[in-house]
Amino acid sequence: MGDRTMTQLQQHKQQRERERERERERERENPFSNQKKEKATMESPFRDDIMKGKVALITGGASGIGFEISTQFGKHGASIAIMGRRKQVIDSAVSNLKSLGILAVGFQGDVRKQEDAKRVVESTFEHFGRLDILVNSAAGNFLVSPEDLSPNGFRTVLDIDSVGTFTMCHEALKYLKKDGPGRSSSSGGLILNISATLHYTAAWYQIHVAAAKAAVDATTRNLALEWGTDYDIRVNGIGPGPIGDTPGLSKLVPDEIKNKTREYMPLYKVGEKWDIAMAAVYLASDAGKYINGTTLVVDGGLWLSRPRHLAKEAVRQISRTVEKRSRDAPLVPRSKI
Ligand SMILES: NC(=O)c1ccc[n+]([C@@H]2O[C@H](COP(=O)([O-])OP(=O)(O)OC[C@H]3O[C@@H](n4cnc5c(N)ncnc54)[C@H](OP(=O)(O)O)[C@@H]3O)[C@@H](O)[C@H]2O)c1
Repeated sequence: MGDRTMTQLQQHKQQRERERERERERERENPFSNQKKEKATMESPFRDDIMKGKVALITGGASGIGFEISTQFGKHGASIAIMGRRKQVIDSAVSNLKSLGILAVGFQGDVRKQEDAKRVVESTFEHFGRLDILVNSAAGNFLVSPEDLSPNGFRTVLDIDSVGTFTMCHEALKYLKKDGPGRSSSSGGLILNISATLHYTAAWYQIHVAAAKAAVDATTRNLALEWGTDYDIRVNGIGPGPIGDTPGLSKLVPDEIKNKTREYMPLYKVGEKWDIAMAAVYLASDAGKYINGTTLVVDGGLWLSRPRHLAKEAVRQISRTVEKRSRDAPLVPRSKI
């Protein structure tokens, strides 16, 4: 490579770094600004053929995080089947994927209905001749206090998130297990359950989702143990933090409370759908071949956040005072016992 080309490359790299710094600056000023973005800003760091030949079925794959996972899996070589209840939303997602050159098909269905789950899994196999990955991203959510939530509302969210996830896994087992139709006798497929982090502690107005996602995480671990052992299927999860430009976030953090959440965020911004999709690509690629039973938290450390009780300067002053006091204090006489 000539010196001139090298210099051009370096200039290009510096230019991109400056653009990223400006982007980071904008996000520091307004952590929710990426909700307005049309597209994720970064290119994938992974080779674009790392999922070549794989077939993925993604529930809730027509919108939000599920759609970004569908897109990124497709961009990395996978063929995509998406499942959801609204035909129009599915059709539009499929045509978007196809316009990117991705092999894609959509099936209408409700994860709460076992017959729908069975039909969609079978149709995916009939269409593509195999099934390698099942992503459970379908979920329901809304803000509500426990006393305002009817047992039926509670049950509905558990039905979609927890029972729906199990039902899809149950129906996909036949195709994902080693030796299953379209598979070799040496390797099984992968299940990825999209969870959350709010059930690690507790979350206001989210009792239904916290309970549902706790069950999802337990399902992930138990299937990883049993189906990992018996069928060579890896079962993992992803626990997203607040992700911009998703139906979930616009329901949970409406405009009215956006600025109030800012001061508690360790990385001072919401995540992008891209962040979750990259974690999914990593777990689905060979790089994740020894990962089983893990729910990978992708939240910028948010679930660890606590209000800061003291300013840093106050801590320094207190430490100096305490240190001085302990030096000045008379030594405690030794016990004679
Ligand atoms: N957004 C966030 O900040 C965030 C944070 C933590 C976790 N998550 C998790 O990430 C996942 C995606 O969330 P999102 O915010 O991107 O929301 P979303 O786009 O609203 O995802 C929900 C999807 O699931 C589908 N769905 C809902 N009920 C279904 C059912 N019974 N059967 C089949 N499909 C169904 C919906 O399509 P139809 O309505 O057409 O069926 C929709 O496409 C969810 O599991 C969510 O809990 C999101």
